[in-house]
Amino acid sequence: MVLQNSMKINDIYKWSVEKGIDADPRGRERVEKVLERRREKFEKLSGEEKAEFDRESLYNPYSDTRVLHVADDREIKKALVGIDIEAAEILLAKQLGDIDLVISHHPAGRAYTDLHEVMDVQVDIMNSYGVPVNVAESLMREKMSEVSRSINPRNTWRAVDAAKLLGVNFICLHTVADNHAEKFLREKIEAESFERVEDVLKFLGEIEEYKKAKEMGMGPTMFSGRPENRCGNICVEMTGGTEPPAKLFGSMAQAGIGTIISMHVAEDSKKEAEAARMNIVVTGHMSSDSIGMNFILDDIEKQGVEIVPCSGLIRVSR
Ligand SMILES: [Fe+2]
Repeated sequence: MVLQNSMKINDIYKWSVEKGIDADPRGRERVEKVLERRREKFEKLSGEEKAEFDRESLYNPYSDTRVLHVADDREIKKALVGIDIEAAEILLAKQLGDIDLVISHHPAGRAYTDLHEVMDVQVDIMNSYGVPVNVAESLMREKMSEVSRSINPRNTWRAVDAAKLLGVNFICLHTVADNHAEKFLREKIEAESFERVEDVLKFLGEIEEYKKAKEMGMGPTMFSGRPENRCGNICVEMTGGTEPPAKLFGSMAQAGIGTIISMHVAEDSKKEAEAARMNIVVTGHMSSDSIGMNFILDDIEKQGVEIVPCSGLIRVSR
């Protein structure tokens, strides 16, 4: 796919999906296989089941990345981009007056209700770090169902409703962006051989987004272990919808992981990691999400789209 000089909503969306596949930790070939399996399953559905099926998922492997509302399919010259977009940011776009498109990182609408589906990628990621695939798969299934139930009662369409009422174009780019954060950090970390956790923290602190986050009081920090601890094998966990289940931290330790680098870690996972004597480095949520988004925004910006950051986005051009 080649980027065009004038970009419409669908060009930005499709480009982001392609770029997300390029950075997917499973590799393009495996992603194509997943899509192929999905298409085969779809063909076997009844007419009624087909009608309810999200056909976009036959081409886009990321359930949390979607076009949410097209009010006016015009050329996009200026986009308001944030980590979380709620009705407030939709109103902000309207108030600014010259915004052609609002881009959220975190999903809304159906992309939010279907967020759990994208978590499947974590089975392959954990397997790549040595966790047996059957263990990773079984633990992830439990977590996916838990995430689906926790999202179920939420007001997931609120921002989309606001966009419809105010006539604002609206899309969300979640895992397609997080894949880039994971690839970027994993490649950098694997290229170095850090001995102590403090070396990792120093290295992270030199990345532009984390530098700015530090000034804002939300730089990379340790949740478990001590800076002078040896790292052992390092796992970078940045993509796959949301964080892995707590029990998986024990399995990761058994698989030989000594330090996990994650953008956020829940309390029960922290306890599991501590029990397994694992070091946890939390890079920070908004800053890590920003790294992934910046890789996509750089391309869009080069096509002449002005980016207006809002709602937690730390914009850095590379
Ligand atoms: Fe996030």
